[in-house]
Amino acid sequence: MLVLGIDTSCDDTGVGIVQDGRVLSNVIASQALHAAFGGVMPELASRAHLTELDACVQLALEGANVNLEQIDVIAATRGPGLSGSLLVGFTYAKGLAFATKKIFYAMHHLEGHIQSALASDPTLEPPFIALIASGGHTHLFDCAVSGTYTLIGATRDDAVGEAFDKVGRLLGLGFPGGPAISKAALAGNPHAYPFTVPLRGQTGFEFSFSGLKNAARLAVEARDRGEVTVSVADLAASFQRVAVAALVTTTARAAKRLQRRVIVVSGGVAANRALRDAFAVLEKKEGLRVLFPPADLNTDNGAMIALAGFVRAARGEAGDRFDVSVVPYWVLAG
Ligand code: KG4
Ligand code: ZN
Repeated sequence: MLVLGIDTSCDDTGVGIVQDGRVLSNVIASQALHAAFGGVMPELASRAHLTELDACVQLALEGANVNLEQIDVIAATRGPGLSGSLLVGFTYAKGLAFATKKIFYAMHHLEGHIQSALASDPTLEPPFIALIASGGHTHLFDCAVSGTYTLIGATRDDAVGEAFDKVGRLLGLGFPGGPAISKAALAGNPHAYPFTVPLRGQTGFEFSFSGLKNAARLAVEARDRGEVTVSVADLAASFQRVAVAALVTTTARAAKRLQRRVIVVSGGVAANRALRDAFAVLEKKEGLRVLFPPADLNTDNGAMIALAGFVRAARGEAGDRFDVSVVPYWVLAG
């Protein structure tokens, strides 16, 4: 069973090919042009997808050493995401599947992030808890049986990756802030600045990062006025410590409450070293299993959509209709 997956939900053009749940190729064309704007420019993103997509499909086929005729299923992200960007990949995939008479799956982007962990362990099966931590999402799902995703918690305001990006900018570290903060934090003391862990006293599974973002802004302003002496590295490390603590403690609470032994962590922020270390500690302490996708599947990519498509195909699901369009705002549920 060969599945070709396409993701153009935001600023990366992603095409991947999966054979029986094993990733054969994963081509990502990243759009560096947004860095100059400090964030993603939607109109430029969709135009760049249009230029890159066909070449990415060819490269993915070549990388997998297969031809288009051999592909059984074409899966593409229907949403959520930027509408113009989604339209490019989704319409292309529909056209390709229709013309070549292949099964077509309209995919939810978050289902892709969750199933990206299959690339690390093809035997992964529910039940598990999934934390998606990216620039657009901070969501906790309970996956009880294959194909069902129950949203049990989410951010009340900003996504954690967005907070990393904003704080990275405040600290003059550039965009995207996540990798820059984690690098700067290596030389810093995580307890140098007393940020508080968001929603520390809660008993539920929510997240919140706007207060922490604001606290970071106030810290930088106080530093600029000479009221506190703390280095950029110390601020980066201190911010990262509490952001990670919020993610790990809430996810651990959910696993405990729902009696799940397996946790999947995905999305761009899953690349964060401090987050991985904190989950490794939890894994040992609680005897849990915490699974991360391999590095090139953390951020948006086509292979994760192909993996999620493969899971649907393995359940024997019929293809989706061609007369559906993109859904920029779409809650994963079912
Ligand atoms: O999943 P992704 O590529 O796109 C979205 O769907 O949002 O995630 C991108 C986000 C950005 O906010 C970026 O700063 C963050 O992931 N990120 C990180 C790291 N690498 C990427 N955040 C923290 N630490 C990292 N090492
Ligand atoms: Zn994503």
